[in-house]
Amino acid sequence: MPQIDIFFLVGNAEWMRWGIVGHGSIAKTFMEAARGIGHSIEMVVGRDSGRIEDFCSSYDVPEGSTDLLSLVSAVDAAYIAVPHSEHCSSTVPLLEASVPVLCEKPLAVNESEVSKMIRTAESTQTFLMEAMWTRHLPVYEKVLSWINEGKIGEVVLVEASFGFNAPYVPESRLWNPDLAGGSLLDVGIYTLTLADLIYGSPPEEFSAKADLSSKGIDTHLGIVAKYPNGGLARLGSAINAALGFSGRVIGSEGMIEIPFFWQAEKAVLTSNSLSEDISIPHDVNGFEYQIREVQRCLESGAVESDVVPWSWSLSMSRLMDEIRSEIGVIYPADKESENG
Ligand SMILES: NC(=O)c1ccc[n+]([C@@H]2O[C@H](COP(=O)([O-])OP(=O)(O)OC[C@H]3O[C@@H](n4cnc5c(N)ncnc54)[C@H](OP(=O)(O)O)[C@@H]3O)[C@@H](O)[C@H]2O)c1
Repeated sequence: MPQIDIFFLVGNAEWMRWGIVGHGSIAKTFMEAARGIGHSIEMVVGRDSGRIEDFCSSYDVPEGSTDLLSLVSAVDAAYIAVPHSEHCSSTVPLLEASVPVLCEKPLAVNESEVSKMIRTAESTQTFLMEAMWTRHLPVYEKVLSWINEGKIGEVVLVEASFGFNAPYVPESRLWNPDLAGGSLLDVGIYTLTLADLIYGSPPEEFSAKADLSSKGIDTHLGIVAKYPNGGLARLGSAINAALGFSGRVIGSEGMIEIPFFWQAEKAVLTSNSLSEDISIPHDVNGFEYQIREVQRCLESGAVESDVVPWSWSLSMSRLMDEIRSEIGVIYPADKESENG
């Protein structure tokens, strides 16, 4: 029986029961948001029973397991919060067992893995969504309506930076090529997402330059891209430089600034004739919007969200493959994908 039916049988309530795969930093952010809107965390899955036990007792999670498939009978949906290299291998068996999945960004390391995940979701008719939470933030509805109303004229440039100076820890997920580290997949994806939100499509051409680490991951990346309507984007990401976190949309007659654009709660519009701002504080920490979207989709029987559809994840993974090809970043997962 598909998990969606199970959800309706046991989940005939305001809340959902979640399982989390991985118990690192972002798992805690997710738990706070899910619990903040009344959902429950029933189980955490990890690699090491001692570390799982510590996590469960520190964060009051009823059950821990080293077996991914123990989630099948315990939860309504799973949230995947492991390094990029593990997204596909964690998601596919859950989809095959009809467990709906919200998987952290990027959906997977490359287009080949993303295609495999989508094919599995499609063939099992099981919900799958990339956790690109920026696309759910209500501030962007206002930003897009300002643009559609012509308040800044024709959009000519999107500028976004997402860069910080992380300590060099070679085995960590940020720096390790085996875990698909580097700035593009970790934070550059948010700058591409902002440009995509504003222009409504991937670029038709781009040029990218990067500094690579001695292990071959991109530590600092710059992209200039041109979109189908003629608008440009200038995007920067880094794990070795404090580039800041600002987003700006510049039009022929004004500008919109979006501080901390990937988790935006505010936007400020200035033009020759007016100045407006919007402030929409998160109900919890910003993850609640994507969690509510999963619930909405499951309740309506949808296996795909139209806020972050499969086609969006697929085209984003294709674009990031092309960018990596230009800057020369190849992960072990790419070779595995080539070998089938
Ligand atoms: N949406 C956002 O704002 C946001 C922010 C940060 C991160 N993320 C995404 O969330 C995911 C996890 O990031 P994180 O910062 O939470 O990572 P993290 O703190 O390093 O935690 C990673 C977790 O994955 C587990 N794991 C499983 N297989 C692993 C492997 N082969 N190597 C290393 N760890 C493995 C680790 O468990 P062990 O105890 O077994 O090592 C740990 O629980 C990434 O996809 C990242 O891009 C999203």
